Amino acid sequence: MSADAPIADDPTTGAPIDLRLLPRSATVAGGRLQLGGCDVAGLAATFGTPLYLYDEGELRARCREYADAFGAGAVSYAGKAFLCTAMAKLVAEQGLNLDVATGGELHVALRAGFPPARIVFHGNNKAEAELRTALEFGVGRIVADSFDELDRLEALVADGWPAPRVMVRVTPGVEAHTHEYIATGADDSKFGFTVANGAAREAALRVAKSDALGFAGFHCHIGSQILVLESFAVAAAIVAELAAEVARDAGTAVDEINLGGGLGVPYTTDDLDAPSIAEFAAVLRDAYATACLGTGLDPAPALTIEAGRSIAAPAGITLYTVGTIKTIPGVRTYVAVDGGMSDNPRPATYGAAYEAFLPARSDATRPHAVTVAGKHCEQGDLLVRDAHLPADVAVGDVLATPVTGAYGYSMASNYNLVPRPAVVFVHNGDARVVVRRETLDDLLARDRVESEGD
Ligand code: LLP
Repeated sequence: MSADAPIADDPTTGAPIDLRLLPRSATVAGGRLQLGGCDVAGLAATFGTPLYLYDEGELRARCREYADAFGAGAVSYAGKAFLCTAMAKLVAEQGLNLDVATGGELHVALRAGFPPARIVFHGNNKAEAELRTALEFGVGRIVADSFDELDRLEALVADGWPAPRVMVRVTPGVEAHTHEYIATGADDSKFGFTVANGAAREAALRVAKSDALGFAGFHCHIGSQILVLESFAVAAAIVAELAAEVARDAGTAVDEINLGGGLGVPYTTDDLDAPSIAEFAAVLRDAYATACLGTGLDPAPALTIEAGRSIAAPAGITLYTVGTIKTIPGVRTYVAVDGGMSDNPRPATYGAAYEAFLPARSDATRPHAVTVAGKHCEQGDLLVRDAHLPADVAVGDVLATPVTGAYGYSMASNYNLVPRPAVVFVHNGDARVVVRRETLDDLLARDRVESEGD
């Protein structure tokens, strides 16, 4: 069978959607899915499709799990997974810190009133203007990624801007078990200072000895969607070793080691045995304690982490409407929906797998093997290549893909000039729009149309 062969209809095993892929508030009444006390298909009718739907209770519960496992002050939420002012406020209320990776994310966080001292600023090529804003607002930690960035920071302080607390981002040379585009810890990485060639040590010594910069510790992030946890222990050992060396050579304390994010989540029933947040925390804390003991680092720097996907992804689902169904006998059935790679580029970019189901018939078996396609002008615009749906799927049905809360909205585009969907939070029977749907006029907002006269 070729890799492109269609999957077969399977009247015996096409089970209904497994509720473990949905937020924990999910219930099914009369076949209809309820989330956060709201009827999901009804929300599609009210707010239109495509629609990003988040269960606010699930977002909060996941923040709490992280806070319970590591201590709230030790956890940052990585805003790149999903950020808008409502999310920034939610994270602030849950007591977590916030990782921002650009001036844009920083702007949204500040506009949401996120306490600057609890913001961690990342990025492999931060512009001087971005760094200036960070210093001006008193961002808690800047994670330095290059010698050029250290030059820029020192120059800003020389110009009178307040001295920042700086962490040194290192690449420990660890291969994480994940897609190469989202593996960041290997020696061949655009991020951070390499440990193996001495750059990381040199950068840390420079920050530790600098009058302009406060040395806060080390940071490393080995990759994302990691389901096999061993690589974290290897990274922890390498960074702890480096920290001990720098503490000795610079005669300075190392306050903090941040081991980044990366915990994977189950996108389909194949991955339901993925480690939980509590399991991840237990493995990481244990590995970290062992790593510090081995180096004689005393006291051990505080262990901190940055979680994105494992907080946001399982709390979100995307709703679409089926527009056409095309069966090519002997080849494949395409079920085309009103969104696609512009609202979820992950399948096209990483070959990411998802499931699909019909929220109005959530308890129906799904024997019908189909491919869920988007509406974009690319054959690769397939949201779920191997989907199973109820046999009676029809034009007009609301179709949902679960576990789309991370790196969907945040990576959305206007490809083919498709307006981006609205984002709705549901909780205790209430549904509120936190980001409105883009309009066709929004698409022209920056376009210097001739009628403006210039
Ligand atoms: N910290 C740093 C420095 C990061 O670069 C990232 C993710 C995180 C924390 C959060 O990692 P998480 O807990 O979400 O795995 N667009 C890709 C994922 C890119 C991850 C980028 N960095 C995807 O859709 O799979």
